[in-house]
Formats: sequence, structure tokens, C-alpha cells
Amino acid sequence: HIVPSAPVVPQNDPTLLFTNAGMNQFKDIFLGNRKVQYPRVADSQKCIRVSGKHNDLEEVGRDTYHHTFFEMLGNWSFGDYFKKEAIRFGWQLLTKEWGLDKNRLYATVFAGDAKDGLDPDNDAADEWKQETDIDPKRVLAFGKKDNFWEMGETGPCGPCSEIHIDRGPEYCDSTDPDHVCGVNAGCSRFIELWNLVFIQYNRDKQGVLLLLPSKHVDTGAGFERLAAVLQNKVSNYDIDLFEPIINRIAELTGKDYTVGETGVAFRVLTDHIRALSFAIADGAIPSNEARGYVLRRILRRGARFGRVLGKHEPFIYKLVAPLAETMGDAYPELRQRQEYIERVIRAEEESFGKTLDRGIELFEQKVQNVLALGKSVFPGSDAFLLHDTYGFPLDLTQLMAEEKKLTVDVEGFNREMKAQRKRSSMEKASGYDTLNFESEKHSTFVGYENDKINTKVLHYEDGRLVLEETPFYAESGGQIGDRGRIFNDNFQFRVEATRYIGENIVHFGSLLSGEKPKSGEAVNAEIDRVARRATERNHTVTHLAHAALRQVLGDHVHQAGSLVHFDHMRFDFTHFEKVKDHELKEIETIVNEHILNNHTVQWQVMALEEAKKKGAMALFGEKYDERVRVIEINDLSRELCGGTHVKATGQIGPFVIVGESAVAAGIRRIECLTGFKALRYLNACRQDLETAAKIAGCPVAETASRFETLLQERKTFEQELDSLRRQTIKIKIQQLLSQSFEKNGIKIVHAEIHVPDVNALKASGDLLRDGLGSGIGVLAARFENKGNFLCVVTQDLKLKAGDIVKKVAQIAGGSGGGGPHMALAGTKDVAKIDLALSKVKEIIGQMINEGKDT
Ligand code: SER
Repeated sequence: HIVPSAPVVPQNDPTLLFTNAGMNQFKDIFLGNRKVQYPRVADSQKCIRVSGKHNDLEEVGRDTYHHTFFEMLGNWSFGDYFKKEAIRFGWQLLTKEWGLDKNRLYATVFAGDAKDGLDPDNDAADEWKQETDIDPKRVLAFGKKDNFWEMGETGPCGPCSEIHIDRGPEYCDSTDPDHVCGVNAGCSRFIELWNLVFIQYNRDKQGVLLLLPSKHVDTGAGFERLAAVLQNKVSNYDIDLFEPIINRIAELTGKDYTVGETGVAFRVLTDHIRALSFAIADGAIPSNEARGYVLRRILRRGARFGRVLGKHEPFIYKLVAPLAETMGDAYPELRQRQEYIERVIRAEEESFGKTLDRGIELFEQKVQNVLALGKSVFPGSDAFLLHDTYGFPLDLTQLMAEEKKLTVDVEGFNREMKAQRKRSSMEKASGYDTLNFESEKHSTFVGYENDKINTKVLHYEDGRLVLEETPFYAESGGQIGDRGRIFNDNFQFRVEATRYIGENIVHFGSLLSGEKPKSGEAVNAEIDRVARRATERNHTVTHLAHAALRQVLGDHVHQAGSLVHFDHMRFDFTHFEKVKDHELKEIETIVNEHILNNHTVQWQVMALEEAKKKGAMALFGEKYDERVRVIEINDLSRELCGGTHVKATGQIGPFVIVGESAVAAGIRRIECLTGFKALRYLNACRQDLETAAKIAGCPVAETASRFETLLQERKTFEQELDSLRRQTIKIKIQQLLSQSFEKNGIKIVHAEIHVPDVNALKASGDLLRDGLGSGIGVLAARFENKGNFLCVVTQDLKLKAGDIVKKVAQIAGGSGGGGPHMALAGTKDVAKIDLALSKVKEIIGQMINEGKDT
């Protein structure tokens, strides 16, 4: 049975950032969480290896056979044939069907591992000798590093047996003087063509290997390598699949694909455009967190190598077209989303261009620091900063440093890099849930028609309950899982969440009373109807909103995520600018019209192909079964969807959009309410408006204009008040000046005045100082619940305002200070303001005596 590739962005697997092997999509089958429908399967899986356990990024482009994105051909046995057949099939295909010379091939088997307590795989070695005509001398054993395959820190794994090809001595690219060519010796003369993993174990979070319920075969063959060998090409990049992209790069840059850095740049770009395009087509987007960050780095690496080819402006996005042209038959998502992919890449290239400029600026600064210290080494930590924050590859920094006659501390750079890798270890080691039970039966969902049923317990462990049949919807497709209760005379179980583990619908919750549920026990299962009905309104309206968004904004709108909750719904979609207010209103109106027209919501199950023919909207990056459920709302909307829905749109009630925001570059989000929630929201808005109208003393309809008038009036009053205040202060200051007295020939003024804030206090101080001619003024004022002091001293005097105000404030238990001619201080003790002011004369007198400032 041929199965399609799973998306490169893994679904329901928190342990992976990207699909890194053909076996990822079958993980649940290996773990025994999913029933085997077809025991023998073949496929071609889109893989990206740029993070975690399998990471080839640094090699890509430097050699001719690593890729960030590649296609992995797979041949699978799920508890069916094992080593004997797998070895025979592989050998037969390579040597008979494809006619490869068996004298150039080698087989490897697992040599065992003491630490994991694993014996050598003698069975596989024997099968090679019995099932094939390989020269027994060509069957070699290797350790865990080469012949035990694991997808990550945890998960299904097992010993493997590989087929390698000797391409001839001229392919050796080793520069190590002690190097001897051989299988797994590290040069490109011998390359692996075929990998048979005999999956038998699951490595758990503690690193322990647990035997799986059945034994499986996972065959992996890198398509590009096989094609290169079969097409007699030296390099993977010489196969016909890459040709159109390479040609396009040559056209765009005016350069030829040759050797050296130019060759590296061609390969990097040819490779990276594939990883980027496939990842973006499947819903990933460049950003600053985990998966998006990996994409960002890939693109920056590409842009940097674009500069090697003399391209400074965005151009990588132009490589999407030849890729979609070449691979779009096999992977239609590339053609369907071509324009979107181009826009995302282009936007990222544009913003990186700016970052590059800022990075160059930072580089110049750092160089100045180095030169100022008379040094000749550019610090590794700065090179890392440039790398990490501005996406500067180390070799770019080295090149720029060279021009300044500096070298880069590479060791320091590597140290920082290592620390960073540790910090952002891209893959999480846990998070994959399993149940401790195996059963022929799997729970069946009967909740499209029922809210409540009688059924039997299949399994119970630790607050997790599985039933034979269940009305509880398990969280999926953006819709939250049902809540409710499961009970009989023996126990009461409150269901707080419902989720899938493999194919089992698992009810998570608490045993409120009674005995632990036993397998086979009859129970009642009843969902929380109120919550479910609300969730259904929000789900159906998601489909209506999706259609309305496309109608108003255009066909580039695709669903990029959603949350269907009983409280509200959230819908993310591809769109490149803020949705304007009038567009939101239009979308809202269209949806409300469809609701009022009370269209019937219908669903049917059909073949995926048929659904696609009917134009049903599928989610990009979503993996669908062969039979799918299609939800139809009249002619308005047709979507693949497993969720639960209202029977007719009228049940949705009022619909309001309450928020619009950006999620990432090119992705917007709307948040919406329906039914009672919408009603409550609208009522609250009306209530607020009525209150406002009451306060403003006008009819509701006039509230807005009334407030406009009031605000305008307020502005005028404020201006008037301001000018009045200024006049008052002027008069007050004049009064104070007329009451000034002299001490040692210096004019002194002190008083409390009424001003609203510190600015007015300072303005008063300025007026006072101007009026004094030669003298000192101390003003106090109360605002912001404290006492404030200000001292001004004219230019001709040596006494300092800061010193005076400090001493004055101290008397009132406060503090402060400032410049020689104006200074501020404050105290919380407003009752002491008078006391402090009464001491001004004395304080100044004392300071004059001390400083002899006459
Ligand atoms: N899982 C193995 C690999 O990825 C074989 O498919 O190499």
C-alpha cells in the first residue's frame, strides 16, 4: 500500500521540530498505539535534518551529498516480514532491478553494545549470507554509532543493516594524512545507499530500551543519492531534479556553477530553497522561536551565500518557481502555495538585508574597541554575537576582520556556540504519551449523534479512562476535547479533558468517588452539553468566517491554525497586512447574513480524492486519512473536518469579531464570539454606552458627538486655565519680590506657593530668579501628596542651589539636590514645610559665613 508523505512539520509530536525520517509518521504503529491497517507499506517522505539528533546544516553545500531537505524512500513492515525478507528485497532491488554491480556494494550489521546490553546482530549477518549472493567478506559489523538507528533521544529504535557503495578511489575527499578509505571511514568514496532498521525497542525518557509489542522493518533510502548513483553523477546536485534550480541561479546571478566558493554557494542555495519552500508550504514560518528560528538561519545562510554570488538584493524567493515547476506534480502543495511561499521568503530576505547592515555597523564598533586596546584579535564572543543576533556566519566575520588586519578568536566563538547549542537543545526529550494496554478493540467516537450513551470500560490507569464507545470528542483539528462525566453505581469520574493517545480516545479526569473502573464494566458516559453546544457554534462559524475572509480579502487567505473553544474561537490565516476596520465589518456582516439564512449544515464521509475533486478545502500541512469527512454549508463552504457542528447556521446566534492581530509575518488572527457569549458581549457594550449617555446627559445616539464636544471644550478650558495660572504665578512672584529681605547684601525670598506640578514650580523659580537680579529664592509647594522645595540662585553668587535645598529639605525630613542655580527636593512630611521655610534665612546666613560669600 502506497501512503503519501506526512507534512515536514510534524503533527502531534512534541519531540520533533521537523519530520526527520520516514518512520516519524508511523511512530504510533510501532509503539502499539495505532492499529495496523496495511502491514506492508511504501512511501517517499519529505525530510528536513537541521536540528536535534540528525543535523547536517553545516555540511550542506560544502560537500556534494548532504541536504537539509531530502526525500526518503521507505519500505515498511509493520509486524509482518522481518530481517530475512527485508535483506532479500533490498539486495534484489539494487542489484537485479537497478543493476548495480554487487562487487561495489558492502553490507553492514550491528556489532552489539555492552552499555545497552545488546548482542551482535548475528541473525542479520546470517541472512546476508543465506538470502543474497553478496561476497561474505563484504558483510562488516559496526557499533552503535553506525548501526543502531534512533530518531531522537526517545522513541522507537533498533539495530540496522546498511548497504554502502564504493564509488572508486577518485571520489575520496579526505585531507587527513592517516585516512584509509573504507565503509564508514568518513570520505565520500563510500556512501550509504540503503538502511534497514529492525525496529524492536522504544527508548524511554530514562534512556532504557523497552521491547516493543511487535517487530518492524523501516527501510530508508535517500532518493537524491540513489538517483546520483543510478544516473552516474559525481554529485547529488548533478541529478536532473536540481538542474532547473541551478540554471535559474545562474540566470539571476550571471555566474556559472563551478568549483570553489561559487560552487558551494550554488549548492547551498539549491538545497536551502527546497527546505524553506517545503517547510513554509506545510505551515512553518521564519521567526525567533524554535522551528521558525531554524528556518530563519537556513534563509540567512542562503542570503549570505547569495552575496558570494554578488547578489545583495532579495532574489532567493525567485527560486520557488523552478522548484514548484519540477516537484509540483509529486507535491502539489508547492504549486498551490507558490505565491505565499515567495512572499514569506521575500519579506524575510528584505528584513535580513537590514539586519546585515546593522550587523556591519556593530562590527565596525567592535573593531574600534579592539584597535583602541592595541590588539589584533577580534573576540570570539563578538563574532558569536554577530552570528547569533545578526545571522553572520563565522566565515563572513573572518573575511571582514581580515580586511582590518585582524584575526578572529575561533576557539572563543566555538565555546559560545557550544553553550548556545546546549541552551537551545532543539528537541525536547519527552512529551510523548503512551498507555499501558493493548487491545484488539479501540474506542469508537459516537458523539456526532449522541451526547450520552451506555458503554463499557476498556481500560483505566491513573486518571485516564478508555471506553469501547464514547460521545466525548477528543481534542483535534483545533476543537477542544469534551468535558463531562462517566459513571455507574460503583464510581463517578469527572472528565476534564479528552485527547487521543494513538487511536484511543482517552478521558482525562478525576475519580470523584467509588472504586477504580474495571475493564468490561458497564458505564454511562455523558458530555457537558452546554459546553459542547457552544463549541459547535464556534466551530461552524469558523467555516463561515473562513469563507467570508476569502471572499473579502482574496484567495491567498488560507487557514493557518485555529482554536475552537466553548468560550470563543480564534482563527489564524495567511494575509500580509492588517485587516482594515471596514473589511472586518464586512466579514462580520456576511457571516451574520449566513447565520440568519439558517443554512443546513451537512456532512458526509467520502474518499479523499473525491473530496478534493469537489473542491473541499483542506488544510496545508495536514495529513488526512483516505476516507475523510466533509462539512458542507449550502454552497458557501466545503471543508474537510472531523469536528462537531450545529445542525443549521441559525443556531449560531449573533457573531462578533472582537479582535484582529498579527501572529507572525504573513499571518493574522481574528478572535470571535458567538451565541450567548456574543450576546453578553454586545449587551455589555450597550450597557457601557447607556451609562456613558446618562453621564453625558444625552440620548444614546448622540453620545459620541456629545463626548467630542466635551473634549473640545475641555481643551479650550485647559488652555485658558494654563494662561490664568501663569498670570497668577507672575503676580505672586512680584508680591514675593516686594517682600524680599537682605542678608549680607544678598536678596532672599522664601515662601509657599500654589502650583499643580513640578513644571509650574520650575517656571515660578525661573521668574523668581529673573526678578531677583542678584539673590536666592526658596519656594515650597504641595502636590503629588508631598512637599516640594525649589531653590534658585542667581548666576553671580557662589552659593549652590543644590546645597541650600538639601539643607532646607532635611529640616522637613526630606532629601534632594541638583545644580548650582536650580535644585529640587521633596519631603513626605508636608506638616514641616513651614518649619523648613522659616529656617531658610538662618541656613543661608550660616553658609555665607562658612563660605565667606559676600
Ligand atoms: N529510519 C532510518 C533512517 O532514517 C531508515 O529509514 O535512516
